[in-house]
Amino acid sequence: MKKNINGKTKIIGIIGKNIENSLSPLFHNQIILKHSLNFCYLPFQVTETNLTKTIQGIKALNIRGVNITFPYKEKAIKFLDEVEESARRIGAVNTIVNNKGILIGYNTDVIGFKKSLQEDGKFAIKGEKAVILGAGGAARAVVYALLEEGIEEIFIFNRTLEKAKKIKQNLSSFFPKSRISVFPLEEEDLKDKIEKAHLLINTTSLGMAPQIDNTPLPDEKLFHPNLLVYDLIYRPAKTLFLRQAERAGAKIINGLPMLVYQGIESFYLWTGLKLESKEILETIERIA
Ligand code: ATR
Repeated sequence: MKKNINGKTKIIGIIGKNIENSLSPLFHNQIILKHSLNFCYLPFQVTETNLTKTIQGIKALNIRGVNITFPYKEKAIKFLDEVEESARRIGAVNTIVNNKGILIGYNTDVIGFKKSLQEDGKFAIKGEKAVILGAGGAARAVVYALLEEGIEEIFIFNRTLEKAKKIKQNLSSFFPKSRISVFPLEEEDLKDKIEKAHLLINTTSLGMAPQIDNTPLPDEKLFHPNLLVYDLIYRPAKTLFLRQAERAGAKIINGLPMLVYQGIESFYLWTGLKLESKEILETIERIA
């Protein structure tokens, strides 16, 4: 298959800090080729000092839209003209659409996470307890998704406690019945809460290439066989966190299905084309 770029080609892409290992460019360009669309998806490696100019540049260069990834999902919001309601509540965007010069922010991570957990993880969220590691932009989307689906209780652990408190404060106001408690990333509380939970999710960047020897859990004895252990990271496909979980007899899921489902939603927002997820998941599993 060959890609023809011409004067009418619409540009989409991804903005992030360490995106050399992102699968999104490969994934979106494969879809573009397969469906003979006149689009091209590009990686934009951006430093924090250039974030403002970069987002203004989306309008200036008439770029159709972008994905926003680590670590700009929260920071990007203030530069947008409009933010869709759930993204505003979450306080993080992973997708921007340029609608004739108006930049609109969305969060397709919510639908991507829910679908992956329910369909690939075969996990019924309602009435369960979950431990979330991390309190960045990705964690916000995960907590929001779990609350929407009626999770019973959430325990958030983060190195910076203040950030976890902020999530609790922001999201509790939209879900008055929610039960959220927050802790620093330390072993004693982790042990107690992980024992109570059936779902343990890593939303931190620990374990992501090139830092593949890192894991957010201080001790692998904290895993147990009654857990579904979910790592939002997809590269490497099996992080140290997931390898240890598997050794302890837990069921595991990585970030690949979520990447595909959130990508399909973003692609729809830019192109109007709704794609079949099964076929794309198979393609991406081959190239990942
Ligand atoms: P994203 O948008 O992908 O969620 P982020 O908002 O930068 O990215 O969040 C990254 C998460 O990884 C945070 O929870 C961060 O912890 P802090 O809030 O304390 O910064 C966590 N994280 C990153 N490096 C870490 C490390 N070395 N140890 C513990 N947590 C780390």
